Amino acid sequence: MSGDDSRETKVVGVRRLKEAMAKPTSTRIFTVANQKGGVGKTTTTVNIAAAMAMGGLRVLVIDLDPQGNASTALGVEHRDSAGVYEVLMGNAQMSDVVQKVAGFPVLDCVSSNTSLANAEINLVSMVARELQLKEAIDSISVNYDYVFIDCPPSLGLLTINAFAASKELLIPIQTEYYALEGLSQLLETYGVVKKRLNPSLNLSTIVLTMFDSRTRLSNDVAANVRSHFPNELIDIPIPRAVRVSEAPSYNQTVMTYDPLSPGAIAYMQVAREIAERGKAKDEVVFDSNVVSINYKGGIA
Ligand SMILES: Nc1ncnc2c1ncn2[C@@H]1O[C@H](COP(=O)(O)OP(=O)(O)O)[C@@H](O)[C@H]1O
Ligand SMILES: [Mg+2]
Repeated sequence: MSGDDSRETKVVGVRRLKEAMAKPTSTRIFTVANQKGGVGKTTTTVNIAAAMAMGGLRVLVIDLDPQGNASTALGVEHRDSAGVYEVLMGNAQMSDVVQKVAGFPVLDCVSSNTSLANAEINLVSMVARELQLKEAIDSISVNYDYVFIDCPPSLGLLTINAFAASKELLIPIQTEYYALEGLSQLLETYGVVKKRLNPSLNLSTIVLTMFDSRTRLSNDVAANVRSHFPNELIDIPIPRAVRVSEAPSYNQTVMTYDPLSPGAIAYMQVAREIAERGKAKDEVVFDSNVVSINYKGGIA
């Protein structure tokens, strides 16, 4: 689908939502993983994170992919600055490398840089090599409602570090022919980590990406995933939408690049659903930090 290209695209600032998103009882830490490349891990990470920040939640994104796509999409400096690699190697504190994402109330990012490509090798010789990231995240997680770790397309030591540091696993699945291939390997790794390293890790969330409702294939994949993971699947698929793929080249998420486009609306709904599922019981949601949207006037 091509979106509505007649509309002028102009960022007027980050809109915050009239209705706040529900806060979790304690910090929810997600690994976003799928060892296939190009399935929407980074896109899902940055857009759900941005949507939640717009909903009044305090959110941290950790870019664990040496390619640094999440850092790019969030517009934070990453080529020359210290980031998650320096933390993993014990050469920096997490709190020293956290960067603010411009325009959002509380959206932070720990960037990756190309040195991170050496981490898989350098971690091997370290003591407690699977737990380096966990210790770092534990030192700052209290400052956030949500932490999302964007993984590289592999099941190496970086991804294992993310699994060990997280409470939940979010798997984005692209609705295409080979979608479920490789999933068994991912689930196997998840099982091993759960048994040996992090018993509290929970595969809680599956998001369908690049969905094209006109094709039988997309619908077949969705039905298949639904039948295997009825509780984990968020039943709001992210449509294949041109605005979603354009946003990173403007150092933006689609939530700011074109907040009323179909992709942004879908990510907003998915973010709200994830927050709903994790909300504290008996909570009255009121957050004075969240102001109303004024779509006509721009910034509220
Ligand atoms: N819903 C979507 N509609 C259109 N393009 C998308 C969508 N989601 C992701 N893309 C594009 O697909 C490519 C791969 O997505 P990405 O999030 O980088 O995957 P991964 O992190 O799993 O490698 C990127 O070019 C991205 O812009
Ligand atoms: Mg990626």
